[in-house]
Amino acid sequence: MIKIVFVCLGNICRSPSAEGILKKMVLDRGLSSDFYIDSAGTSAFHVGEGADKRMKKHAIKRGYKLISLSRQFNICDYDEFDYIIAMDHNNLKDIYSLDNSSKHSNKIKLMTDFSKEFFNLEVPDPYYGGSKGFDTVIDILEESCKGFFDFLCE
Ligand code: 4NP
Repeated sequence: MIKIVFVCLGNICRSPSAEGILKKMVLDRGLSSDFYIDSAGTSAFHVGEGADKRMKKHAIKRGYKLISLSRQFNICDYDEFDYIIAMDHNNLKDIYSLDNSSKHSNKIKLMTDFSKEFFNLEVPDPYYGGSKGFDTVIDILEESCKGFFDFLCE
């Protein structure tokens, strides 16, 4: 089984969406039992809450139901997961800084590392912006998750 955790700041917008999108891709290919897919936030701002209502609304329109509850990323996740996928460079920095040993660096990636179209760009934080930001998040995540899934299947 391959274990993946997606990480953003609040774990209520971007990383739960990445979780929902990859879970659907895996389910559609009949491969759910081969993957464990989770998400977490670098902050504890929204621990225990479901995904942001605006994010949920945009996700459902695109065919993704977001059901996860926010939790904070913690040091046990370094051993637990095979891939730790950050949404932006701040998330990357925060994840790296919690890993004192640096022995997990090879598991830590930026979401768009797996995208041709959005390579090395961030998945922008939509929280304080307008409606379009939530669609942009899904556009970038769909493309990046496709690339990531192809990479995992190789
Ligand atoms: P996320 O978005 O990191 O994609 O879940 C945010 C959610 C909440 C906050 C910031 C970003 N906040 O400041 O509360």
